[in-house]
Amino acid sequence: MRVDLLAGALYNPAVMPSPVPTILVFDSGLGGLTVFSEVLKARPDARFVYAADDAGFPYGRLSEAVLVERVGAVMERLIGLHDPKIVVVACNTASTVVLPHLRKRFSIPFVGTVPAIKPAARTTQTGYISVLATPGTVARDYTRDLVETYAAGCKVNLVGSRRLAGFAEAELAGNPVSDEELLDELMPCFVEEEGGRTDVVALSCTHYPLLLPRFQTLAPWPVTWIDPAPAIARRVIQLIGETVPGHEADDDEAVAVFTDGAGIGVPLRAALHVRGLSQVVVESWPMLQTAP
Ligand code: DGL
Repeated sequence: MRVDLLAGALYNPAVMPSPVPTILVFDSGLGGLTVFSEVLKARPDARFVYAADDAGFPYGRLSEAVLVERVGAVMERLIGLHDPKIVVVACNTASTVVLPHLRKRFSIPFVGTVPAIKPAARTTQTGYISVLATPGTVARDYTRDLVETYAAGCKVNLVGSRRLAGFAEAELAGNPVSDEELLDELMPCFVEEEGGRTDVVALSCTHYPLLLPRFQTLAPWPVTWIDPAPAIARRVIQLIGETVPGHEADDDEAVAVFTDGAGIGVPLRAALHVRGLSQVVVESWPMLQTAP
């Protein structure tokens, strides 16, 4: 089923030939918007498809096998429909396990989003780093390997939050959670011992920078928050090059695709519009297997 939620603005990729690349930015939900905004800044001329697999949200609860199957199937459909030149998997939970599978299955380039442990280790003065992610991401071998390779000399505190990604979704949908609920999820990041205390928090779920202003207000002491989105945008530019001169950005060239769309209401549409996503489409793709 395909429903265009903006009256009078029917999106049809088949009749929208473009001299510029199509960039597909993919996440389980709205977190990838933090990456989308940076990539849009870097290539304002490009045509964008922002795809949220909200029928599968939250990915943090899914087993690796289910995630590999789900993302592979959704990706095949999205690539078939939108013919992107490049895909940004703007999701740590997916990237830390599905990237090798996607690269094997499809011939286009994929840019992933993985915990910024290397920059965190470079930034810390105290040696105490927290990695705030989903339970899925903190459990990955990939994440443990990053810690061993790049932060062996640091005290690395892996914090897997079950609720924060949902809180970020609620925030954008106009239903912010209380400070108390947010603080409960945030406090495990703040470690204080005789030897020192946390001075860097790597935001390792793309949803979390959506809550950054609130994190900064609630934090018990100031820390450096690392959001990898600008680095991801730089990687995209390395792979597909700079803006094509002479092509003007066009609002109609950015579309948000949801696989469920149940959460789309007026505040969310406004939040998408402000970010340059003027069209909202539901490509219904139910999650058949919900148990991990
Ligand atoms: N935005 C995703 C990430 O970067 C995860 C949210 C979810 O659990 O679906 O990890």
